[in-house]
Order: sequence, then structure tokens, then C-alpha cells
Amino acid sequence: MALFRIILLLFLSSCTAVLADVTVEYCSDNLTIPTTQMSANIDSLLAEVASATSKNRFSIATYGKGNDTVYGLGQCRGDVNSTDCSSCIQDAAQSIRTNCQNQTDARLWAENCVLRFAAINFFGKLDTNEVERIFNIDHPQHPSAFKKVVAALMSKISSEAIVPANNGFAKGKITSIPANVTLYGLAQCTMDISRNFCKECLNLAIGNIPKLCKDVKTVGCRVLYSSCYVRYEIYPFYYPLDA
Ligand SMILES: *[C@@H]1O[C@H](CO)[C@@H](O)[C@H](O)[C@H]1NC(C)=O
Ligand SMILES: *[C@@H]1O[C@H](CO)[C@@H](O)[C@H](O)[C@H]1NC(C)=O
Ligand SMILES: *[C@@H]1O[C@H](CO)[C@@H](O)[C@H](O)[C@H]1NC(C)=O
Ligand SMILES: *[C@@H]1O[C@H](CO)[C@@H](O)[C@H](O)[C@H]1NC(C)=O
Ligand SMILES: *[C@@H]1O[C@H](CO)[C@@H](O)[C@H](O)[C@H]1NC(C)=O
Repeated sequence: MALFRIILLLFLSSCTAVLADVTVEYCSDNLTIPTTQMSANIDSLLAEVASATSKNRFSIATYGKGNDTVYGLGQCRGDVNSTDCSSCIQDAAQSIRTNCQNQTDARLWAENCVLRFAAINFFGKLDTNEVERIFNIDHPQHPSAFKKVVAALMSKISSEAIVPANNGFAKGKITSIPANVTLYGLAQCTMDISRNFCKECLNLAIGNIPKLCKDVKTVGCRVLYSSCYVRYEIYPFYYPLDA
């Protein structure tokens, strides 16, 4: 029996190297089924988190009393505008509720936002227990040079993300002649965790790129933890697209 259920909603664009509009949902297979009260609390919580995240780009909220209390977190990617932020988090709130309706622990990663709720307080805790990944199938032209560029770019971005003013977010690109690519990368931590946890989470995510991304023999990959995620592609995917 699977320990959890992963729902992958994706739409492939005409070019196979471009994976757009991917949403990953994790519904924990925790045998705790929400009580009627808890279920109502999750509905209220998600409405609150969706609304507050639309306004502030990041929010945490608690709803309910005693053992029916539920905790939620919503956050938009550092570079998306408020229109895209709002539509992402509203869709996410609906989707996570539909797909994880019998769960007391659910997590969602969309292109432009992340959303999570649980029956236990997870705020400020580093969570690297569950990891999801998405990778493209196309191979780089010059694999060993490509692997070096990925390592260099991700390490640079990661060190920028932990600068306090950056709020756990960084993006950037490198053009490499030996690898014959321009590589685009992004790193994002959830804003409830400390700078040290952010660093720890990103180090783990980047360190796991070879293992989770087919030994970097594919042209794009995302490593998704609940407290942070990293992504690289050979096409621009963050805003503004030409930066
Ligand atoms: C919460 O506590 C009440 C009584 O203390 C109990 O009846 C109920 O099953 C508990 N709910 C959960 C979700 O544990
Ligand atoms: C928000 O960003 C999207 C994607 O770049 C763009 O299509 C849209 O026009 C932007 N909206 C506003 C109000 O800037
Ligand atoms: C949730 O549980 C109910 C009752 O057992 C079941 O009918 C429904 O299909 C379940 N929903 C999902 C998404 O698994
Ligand atoms: C399952 O949910 C209960 C109630 O929220 C929690 O105490 C427990 O830690 C969870 N178990 C797992 C394996 O997540
Ligand atoms: C670099 O990539 C382009 C486009 O994919 C290709 O046409 C060209 O031959 C490549 N050059 C080298 C030196 O690999």
C-alpha cells in the first residue's frame, strides 16, 4: 500500500523540453480522517489562507479549537505578480480540498504558489521528510559541462536566497559556452522558517539534485520539499522572462 497519494496535474506544451503548468499534490495517508468539525475548519482555514495570501503573498493561519485545530500556509513565488499570485492560490485552495478531502495533512506545489494544511502545527519547522521531483526527459548536449553549470548556478542562487532582504527567494541565469546553454534557476524557501533552516533546506535540495534528477542528465528539474524548493531549466520560466 502506498504511504501517500501524489497527484500530478500537468499539461505538456508542444515542445517536450518545456513542462508548464505543473501542479503536484501530496495527500498524506494519515489514517486520521477529519471530523465534521475539523473538515469545516479546513474549509474556513483555506478560505482565510487564500484570501490573505492573495493580499500579502504569504500567510499562515490557524482555525478551530482543541484537537480540531488546523494550520495552514500559503505563499506565492517571489517573482509572480499579484494577479497570478491570487489566481494560483485560489485554484490551489480548491484543488487541495477536492483531492485531499479525507486528509489532515496535505501539500500542494503549483507553478506560482505553494499551499499546505495540517492538523498539527508545522509553522517554523524545517520539513524535509517528503520530497517530490519533476524532471524533463530531454538530455543536455554536453552532460559533464551541463552538470557543472547546474551546480554552479544553484549554489549561487541558494546563497542569494538566504540574504535576509531576499525573503528566501532567488533566481538567476548563467550562459555556459562549454555546455552550450543558458541555464535558468530558482530557489524558494517558505517564509515561516528561519534563515538557517532555509539554508539547510536548500543545501539538501541542491545536494539531492544528482540523485533526484537522473544524475543531471536531463535539461530541467524541480526538487520540492515542504520548506523549500529548487528548479532549473534551459528556458526562462521566471518573471520577467528576459531578466
Ligand atoms: C477530540 O477530542 C474529543 C474529546 O476529547 C474526542 O471525542 C474526539 O474524537 C477528538 N478528535 C480527534 C480528531 O482526535
Ligand atoms: C502578471 O504576470 C503575467 C505573467 O507574466 C502577465 O501575463 C500579466 O499580464 C501580469 N499582470 C499584471 C496585472 O501585471
Ligand atoms: C473520502 O471519503 C469518502 C467516504 O469514505 C469517500 O466517499 C470519498 O471518495 C473520499 N474522497 C477521496 C478524494 O478519496
Ligand atoms: C496523523 O495525524 C495526527 C493528528 O493530527 C498527528 O498527531 C500524527 O502525527 C499524524 N501522523 C503522521 C504519520 O503524520
Ligand atoms: C549549440 O546548440 C545549438 C542549438 O541547439 C546547436 O545548433 C549547436 O550545434 C550547438 N553547438 C555546440 C558547439 O554544441
